[in-house]
Amino acid sequence: MVCLGNICRSPMADGWLRYYSNKNQLGIEVDSAGTANYHIGKQPDERMRKWSKTYGVSIDQLQARQFNVSDFDKFDRIFVMDQDNYKDVIQLARNENDRSKVSLYLDEMYPGENREVPDPYYGTDHDFKHVIELLDQTTQVFLKNAGFKLH
Ligand code: 4NP
Repeated sequence: MVCLGNICRSPMADGWLRYYSNKNQLGIEVDSAGTANYHIGKQPDERMRKWSKTYGVSIDQLQARQFNVSDFDKFDRIFVMDQDNYKDVIQLARNENDRSKVSLYLDEMYPGENREVPDPYYGTDHDFKHVIELLDQTTQVFLKNAGFKLH
């Protein structure tokens, strides 16, 4: 899961995928990263940590890191939150196999619409909750698209 800072959107996307993977014993390896280096080593934004708990997910254990080229080797899928993240990650791709792993996360729920997860960093509590709910929905759709049964 990749966004700009790795403190708001991608940690929450990571939290949901980890949550459903654990709950359904799917054994998916999940991580998140930012394209920027501003927040390396920091915990997720405190507003996202607070609101995530009201949805039953804790992301307190996560620490921001920067996306790097070895992530193409470690992961089968690389989900980006917006078009800027997409461009930044694609620029690091070494070949077609790397490029084929990268897609907008909301494409899972809205194929072909190029929708973005809005950045809540300068937003309100409502914006944070909206992002949390969007990421929950698209995570469930992704897992169903990938053939997993959820209960
Ligand atoms: P994120 O949000 O990309 O969802 O983690 C942001 C966090 C920090 C900044 C921008 C977006 N920032 O400019 O510091």
